Amino acid sequence: MSTAHSHSPSVVHGSAPQDLVHGARSRDHLSDHEYDGIREYDNPTPGWWHLIFIGSVFFSIMYIAYYHFSPIAWSIEKAWQAEQNAEVKRLFAGKVLTPDEAGILAVAADEPLMQYAAGTFQTNCAACHAKDGGGINGVNLTDDHYKNIKKIPDFYTVITNGANNGAMPSWRTNFSDNERVLLAAYVMKLRGTTPASAKPPEGEVLPPFPKPTK
Ligand code: HEC
Repeated sequence: MSTAHSHSPSVVHGSAPQDLVHGARSRDHLSDHEYDGIREYDNPTPGWWHLIFIGSVFFSIMYIAYYHFSPIAWSIEKAWQAEQNAEVKRLFAGKVLTPDEAGILAVAADEPLMQYAAGTFQTNCAACHAKDGGGINGVNLTDDHYKNIKKIPDFYTVITNGANNGAMPSWRTNFSDNERVLLAAYVMKLRGTTPASAKPPEGEVLPPFPKPTK
């Protein structure tokens, strides 16, 4: 077996015997160039390689079509939204929350509901009012000063309708009635907390709100 001709199959030196090409390994085709005495085979890409390549192109087209354009496609965002909706259903359990003072004070004492409202506030309100309510473009919600609030139900009204020609947007279409009651209670409870950075007070000082009721 160990003749002078048994070179490694991929590198054939200058005087490569043609029987290596046309003989036992006739599938192999030697390309006609030679560099530093090194010649190389010019064989077609193997079939399995083509299969994988075409397969992955086909897969990516189907993937894009399914994932980005199909209404039935699963996505992390949709799954999250579905869980969120299920959680709201579970929390409210068919309850209709009332946006009056008693209703808002009652949910303000409900810890799971307030945790839910905190998440909503972080996602939708913190951009203008800061995560802790200290205020950025939106007013400081932690101090005793209020521009549009005279009594507790006004929180609900402002969140629902917006204020100052949309500087404070209306959230009527973004949230259900129940969710806006929760937000009203959550924002009411921000009063008296200490933010990392407090925007200077705006509006009138209000007398203390009643305590949340159990
Ligand atoms: C695009 C910025 C922006 C976003 C987002 C925003 N707000 Fe506001 N908000 C404001 C501004 C500005 C005011 C003050 C309006 C004015 O000058 O009368 C305000 C006022 C308020 C007030 C009345 C405070 C007062 O002193 O009169 C409440 C309550 C309030 N926002 C709650 C929320 C809640 C809850 C969210 C999220 C669902 C939210 N805001 C999201 C900008 C925003």
